[in-house]
Amino acid sequence: MNQPLAGKRIVGNWKMNGDLAANAQLLRALVDGLQQAPTSHVGVCVPAPYLSQAAQLLAGSPVCWGAQDVSAHASGAYTGEVSAHMLRDFGVRFVLVGHSERRQHHAESDALVATKAQQALAAGITPIICVGETLQEREAGLTESVVRRQLAAVIHANGACTSEVWVAYEPVWAIGTGHTATPEQAQQVHAVLRAQLRAAVDRADRVPLLYGGSMNASNAAALLEQADIDGGLVGGASLKGADFLSIIASANNAAATY
Ligand code: PGA
Repeated sequence: MNQPLAGKRIVGNWKMNGDLAANAQLLRALVDGLQQAPTSHVGVCVPAPYLSQAAQLLAGSPVCWGAQDVSAHASGAYTGEVSAHMLRDFGVRFVLVGHSERRQHHAESDALVATKAQQALAAGITPIICVGETLQEREAGLTESVVRRQLAAVIHANGACTSEVWVAYEPVWAIGTGHTATPEQAQQVHAVLRAQLRAAVDRADRVPLLYGGSMNASNAAALLEQADIDGGLVGGASLKGADFLSIIASANNAAATY
């Protein structure tokens, strides 16, 4: 049976930014700013070397921590890779899988992304599957077919377990550019993803659909009001404590209007 989600999800993606001192300041600002437990689910995906710092500073707080990538392999001769089991050792709640920067700069295929999702699920970690079209693909009218193809690979490899993943729609042209999708553009793609999930798995409405791409303190409220936008994956604005807290406040308000 489909059950609607309670609360929005706001996840920060720090990308390759930060150092011990800056992270400590940011995480403390976040925890201090969330004295009252938020109605939204909040998390940050930090670079792997800082997972133990995040675990230490966030334990017992309402903020979860996650990683930005995971190996497609369980263990062995894969120099430089980090397995899902290793992430688990650091109390990781979720992991980004198939972010467009990895698809683009590390040639990650749809099939590889699907395998990474499998590894995360097997370790009890929620994979946040990132999908999204390039500007060229949007202009060629391929947006729906691209995101559907990317999600189909995950559904194909994970079957019924797909109801345990989260999905982030991140149009590549909106990431780090300041050009956010309009709430209507984002909602349109989210509705396509929702329909695809409903056709494929039971309990599809449990799958949170996050929007990402230049989400900030001023545009978050309008995006989060959309029917199929269950949260946000926030890059640049998650590095500024006040901005990230303001996005979380918008999420709390949006959730309250359910
Ligand atoms: P941005 O990044 O918010 O800086 O556009 C989002 C992301 O890449 O996850």
